[in-house]
Amino acid sequence: MKVGYFALLAIPFAAIAANCASNATMAQNDAGIDGGAEHPMSIASSAQRSGDPAKGYDALVNEGYVGCGMPWTAWSKVIGAAPESQRLSGRRGHSEQLAYNVTAFKTPSGVEVVSPNCLSCHAAMLQDKLVVGLGNSSQDYTSDPAANASLAMFFLTDQVEKDELNKFVSRLQAVAPYTKTETIGVNPADNVAAVLFAHRDRKTFAWSDTPLLALPPKVVVPVDVPPWWRMSKKNAMFYTAAGRGDHARIMTAASTLCVDSVEIAKSIDAYFGDVRAYVASIKPPKYPFAVDETLAAKGQRVFGNQCSRCHGTYGEAAFYPNLLLPLADVGTDPALASGAAQFAGEYVTWFNESFFGETSNLKSETGYYAPPLDGIWATAPFLHNGSVPSIAALLESKTRPTYWTRSFDSNDYNPSILGWNFTALESGQDAEQDPAKRIRIYDTTKLGYAATGHTFGDALSAEERSAVIEYLKTL
Ligand code: HEC
Ligand code: HEC
Repeated sequence: MKVGYFALLAIPFAAIAANCASNATMAQNDAGIDGGAEHPMSIASSAQRSGDPAKGYDALVNEGYVGCGMPWTAWSKVIGAAPESQRLSGRRGHSEQLAYNVTAFKTPSGVEVVSPNCLSCHAAMLQDKLVVGLGNSSQDYTSDPAANASLAMFFLTDQVEKDELNKFVSRLQAVAPYTKTETIGVNPADNVAAVLFAHRDRKTFAWSDTPLLALPPKVVVPVDVPPWWRMSKKNAMFYTAAGRGDHARIMTAASTLCVDSVEIAKSIDAYFGDVRAYVASIKPPKYPFAVDETLAAKGQRVFGNQCSRCHGTYGEAAFYPNLLLPLADVGTDPALASGAAQFAGEYVTWFNESFFGETSNLKSETGYYAPPLDGIWATAPFLHNGSVPSIAALLESKTRPTYWTRSFDSNDYNPSILGWNFTALESGQDAEQDPAKRIRIYDTTKLGYAATGHTFGDALSAEERSAVIEYLKTL
């Protein structure tokens, strides 16, 4: 049983370390039964459905797996077509002229709607190019999404269309109070899932306006969206290795804003084997700048000695150990691994007793997965909460900023530090009166936002560190 997160909220921030220690004790007590994260543990593989990556891409960018949205009639007047640079190939119908992060489809009531899709979080611009599979680290979840959508009502006259918009807006309203982050760039997806589970009957998926489970805390534990290309190596999904079994089924759970029956969930699940195959087929983008090969070769040796036991080896005889590190060993922010949001006990039980639990299950650990580092140059900021702006700062912990801001411009990348250009600030969010500036400050003193731990780079000499950084560019 993980009660950590609820307990965390009730105590001052400074007490987190103490609470974390008691969680470690809990994990230890569990260890005999389910192998809680007391020692580094290897996450076992599970059989995956076979699928066709090309069909998976087609489904990902054309199908209506979100189930509701803004009627096309209103969308075409309010928002309209997207610029060429934002569009994707292989799209059909009205989706052809839409941006990559939304899809047009028909709902069961026959209304064509437009809805955000997986790529609203799992694709991003990098140096003027759209990279599908790269986590979006500049999305703004600090404001209310329902307010804007409801304005579209003004453009509708047909009652069936109005009902569709009402459904979409009411779902956004149910989720909105639980998904507000402190800063731009971090993601509330884990809380979104918890709220959606709480409003749904686990056996029938029927929606209930009154929540059937207690809702998660309104304070969102921030998460940096991981890149999809890791899934060709990872045996479980998510930072805490919570997603076990049939990954395709777990991915369908990311689409359930308005999927209100098991029958509809089944029809979506039928093509998610292909979506999973597509996700697992994605390769990271190549580092676009020059690499000093001699320095990189030195870095490879240092990496082999200092980093490979957790992050694996790359190139021809590549090996990835699928290791999960206990909190005490990695020392990064404890909030997510202590049982936050969808990974808290009652939501885990909901999932495991539902249609999703038939072939998959959620089983979170009190620790963090050491991720594969393929394409790591492209995925700043770093750590599960996106608290560190560059690899250089990650590998020398005393240089990590306590308060920092960045431009959120996808061209503002700095190859010498492998990360975003950033400005360290003297003070945090509480001292900033201007709300527009406040949400652009990453404040590592907030709950869930700490930039502690992972001090494995500190013992390296300056030469060794720059050699490792050079090597990481080649992965
Ligand atoms: C609102 C943003 C959002 C949307 C929409 C979204 N995801 Fe995610 N996804 C996330 C976040 C955040 C995580 C990391 C959560 C964690 O590990 O705690 C994640 C994790 C994942 C992972 C696991 C990656 C890893 O390294 O463990 C996969 C696979 C995935 N999502 C697939 C999908 C698919 C497929 C869809 C569409 C059906 C989707 N996601 C929709 C935000 C989103
Ligand atoms: C004892 C195991 C261990 C060792 C040794 C280790 N790491 Fe890690 N590393 C982890 C874990 C666990 C995480 C995830 C922590 C989190 O997100 O909270 C991580 C995260 C990272 C990340 C950030 C990934 C991301 O997407 O945010 C990078 C980069 C990284 N490690 C590089 C290195 C390098 C380089 C070395 C060697 C100098 C190293 N690590 C040594 C376990 C380890």
